[in-house]
Amino acid sequence: MTTYAATACAGANIAFIKYWGNLDEALRLPLTNSLSMTLDTTVTITTVVFDPALQGDQLTLNEEAIVGPALERVSTHLDHLRRLAGVTLPAHVTSRNTFPTGAGIASSASAFAALTMAAAAALGLDLSPKELSALARLGSGSAARSIFGGYAELIAGARHEDAYAVQIAPPDHWPLVDIVAVVSREHKAVGSTGGHALAHTSPLNPARLAHVHTALARARSAILARDIETLGEVMELDALTMHAVMMTSRPSLLYWLPGTMAVMHAVRSWRQEGIPAYFTIDAGPNVHVITLPDYATEVQARLRAMPEVKEIITCQTGKGAILLGDERP
Ligand code: PMV
Repeated sequence: MTTYAATACAGANIAFIKYWGNLDEALRLPLTNSLSMTLDTTVTITTVVFDPALQGDQLTLNEEAIVGPALERVSTHLDHLRRLAGVTLPAHVTSRNTFPTGAGIASSASAFAALTMAAAAALGLDLSPKELSALARLGSGSAARSIFGGYAELIAGARHEDAYAVQIAPPDHWPLVDIVAVVSREHKAVGSTGGHALAHTSPLNPARLAHVHTALARARSAILARDIETLGEVMELDALTMHAVMMTSRPSLLYWLPGTMAVMHAVRSWRQEGIPAYFTIDAGPNVHVITLPDYATEVQARLRAMPEVKEIITCQTGKGAILLGDERP
């Protein structure tokens, strides 16, 4: 019996200008462009085996068999790829993260980028990076950016084929460091899929949308000019603006904990001492501290010394998604 298999690897990413809210929830067409750095040490490695002998799709995540909503989300995603290939074969997906789940690093970006790339290869689909990125977006909006290495921007197109990421600069253009200060390992009550649907209910959302174009332009040129001060300023402002939208949506999403605030204040005080460190926060309480390689050891030591910080995870600018093996006959 013939099976079709491939393995891919993709890195997580940290957004400097955030994606929050959709024009179309089902297609995950974002309301605005977003811009991120792909990370190197936090990756997902996924093998997809299409096998006619299987009864249905199966998912093994970090050695554990998964059923329920997570398996359904993977199955729905595989359906998009199966439809493109004109097949109905069930698949076994085996996925492994090199970072702890619930540690404040969104695994959906690396997971759906790796899944898209592996499944497309296993099915023999010859897709461009742009097509892979648009497909990855259907699984998780931020996954569209993880197809690319270095710095990537997700374009908010109004149709499926127009909403994909593009690379702004390769990883070696500017090696920034992201030190994640984990202040809580608790699973968040409202994940990003549910959260995006609430963006429209915040009275502050129109203000964020009005400002985001300026923020994107400033972030883009700051990356190209390797200007950490401008990038840091615009990154903090956008993270705070997104959290203001989250906090003022109905129901209100309050992701911050006392430890979140402690790290934000600490980072700002270190800046007063001349350390170029800036914070950004995703849909959770943990704080990503962005700095230059020369200051990474000092920032790590200072974060480790804080009683609120349970652990730190350090990443640098990473490569795009790659195929590790294509075992198609
Ligand atoms: O891709 P999603 O649906 O997990 O959304 C990501 C949302 C944020 O992490 C908060 C922002 C972003 O752009 O990554």
